[in-house]
Amino acid sequence: MSFPSPSLGTPFSSRSPQADALRSLILVTIWLTSAIALLVTSLIAYAIVRYRDRGTGAEPLQTGGNRKIEIAYTLIPLGIQCALFVFTVITMQRAEPQETGRSPDLVVIAHQWWWELHYPDGHVVSANEIHLPVNEPMLTELQSADVIHELWIPQLGPKMDTVPGKPNHLVLQADQVGEYLGNCAEFCGVGHAWMRVRVVVQTDADFAAWDHLQAQPAPEVSGAALRGEQTFQSETCIQCHAIQGLSTTGHVGPDLTHFASRATLGAGVGDNTPEELKRWLGNPQSLKPGCYMPNMRLIPSQISDLTAYLEALK
Ligand code: CUA
Repeated sequence: MSFPSPSLGTPFSSRSPQADALRSLILVTIWLTSAIALLVTSLIAYAIVRYRDRGTGAEPLQTGGNRKIEIAYTLIPLGIQCALFVFTVITMQRAEPQETGRSPDLVVIAHQWWWELHYPDGHVVSANEIHLPVNEPMLTELQSADVIHELWIPQLGPKMDTVPGKPNHLVLQADQVGEYLGNCAEFCGVGHAWMRVRVVVQTDADFAAWDHLQAQPAPEVSGAALRGEQTFQSETCIQCHAIQGLSTTGHVGPDLTHFASRATLGAGVGDNTPEELKRWLGNPQSLKPGCYMPNMRLIPSQISDLTAYLEALK
């Protein structure tokens, strides 16, 4: 099984001011500590060669205490550590949100093992695929529905824990249109590795169009899709999944109102294609072992009707 493109980026290919700040700190720390390691190992190598036993049997020169050297090797590391401390504090200022008092632009609620997304302004509820307008700092509130998870999109900035009962904040921002992958970065149970998140960064116009579409109720359907809608309501799907426009109240699993607009299913475990969706509906456990969606023992005609329905929810 391969994860759909794009590939998971690294902090070295940063695409946001917050990630740029972290990247600078990481690079400075790597270069500085590498230079120190090189200096120390060189001095050790020099001493080993220069003062090796030359077979004369003579005692080496015994020296003890040199005030100037001792002051130097105390003050120089202290100075380096102070400089790194100041640089770290400046980086934290640049990478973390400065205004957390206002209401967030985006609320991310982590679940075992998927991400629930709310855009309070647009009354949009979605899952696993964060959309952002380019160059816009989005104040993001992180919550958890169960255990501690951690949101990490390496190219867009710092990791942040999602702690039950204590919201954390993060600025999500990207300075290039494109797609970025993230993952849960705190071990949270058997599905941890398949708790992926896709970030789609769009122009203002594209984001506004997406936002507008997502706020609409689910589209009207007919034919096989309509049979699928009836199956959705008569089977227990509605106990767990909300679809705006149907009388559903379930919030255990992801909101499916615009399921077909998302690129993947199962928080990144497969591409959102009819074939993968049929496999998923046939037995979610075979694609994502341990996930909380049970095998509903649907018959093939129910699976194809439900697939027709869900793939119509653009
Ligand atoms: Cu959620 Cu690891």
